[in-house]
Amino acid sequence: MKLIVTDALSAAAQAAELYEELLSRKPNAVLGLATGSTPLGLYARLRALYEAGRISFRDATSFNLDEYVGLPPTHDQSYRYFMEHNLFSHIDLPHERISVPSGLDTSADALAGYDAAIEAAGGIDLQLLGLGGNGHIGFNEPGTPFELGTHVVELTERTRRDNARFFTSIDEVPTHAATMGVKTVMHARAILLLAFGPAKAEAVRASFAGPVTPEVPASVLQLHPNVTVFCDEEAAKLL
Ligand code: F6R
Repeated sequence: MKLIVTDALSAAAQAAELYEELLSRKPNAVLGLATGSTPLGLYARLRALYEAGRISFRDATSFNLDEYVGLPPTHDQSYRYFMEHNLFSHIDLPHERISVPSGLDTSADALAGYDAAIEAAGGIDLQLLGLGGNGHIGFNEPGTPFELGTHVVELTERTRRDNARFFTSIDEVPTHAATMGVKTVMHARAILLLAFGPAKAEAVRASFAGPVTPEVPASVLQLHPNVTVFCDEEAAKLL
């Protein structure tokens, strides 16, 4: 695992260079994408690189990590909406090659179909991850078995509280989400995790300096052969 401690702005710039390098080497790369506050700087950088003509997503494919159950793609707190607003509507990634788990159809067929579609696309080349304050990746909450593919999870109280800032009240935060499983994430050829701020410090310590355990979902990344982690000083302070 490569751990780089730098400020969030420089992390976004360096992470964006990984996309520039990947897409120039493999224009039809398969990208695993994430939502939340953490990747916003990276997405801003990718938009800028695209506008400058330095990067194109024309032949790429994307799969997002997760979606709230019950929210349609048009809901302004759905992850599909987030992606449209922060990335997809600004770049040339063709809409027919964009996938976000459905928050409306969470049938067993739809969930298994998500993993099958990733495989059919050739597997994920670069999976982007944020880190939950409780060590979650995607919405794989503590205790989730490492063997699961895309599935529905019940969100913990902590995750709902952490995400309540985007809703009018905590009661409006969905109770469940559809998420790629740890198995899905671990199948990616390379993984890029970003973690910024003091609220992530304990999760960073437990994930990268503690034992590998489903109680700390991100700790599984210690078993992956190609992981790059960018942290700022505050997130890395307990390492
Ligand atoms: C988002 C996701 C989550 C977030 C995590 C951190 O698609 O899968 O695991 O990455 O909850 O969220 P932020 O970045 O808002 O601190």
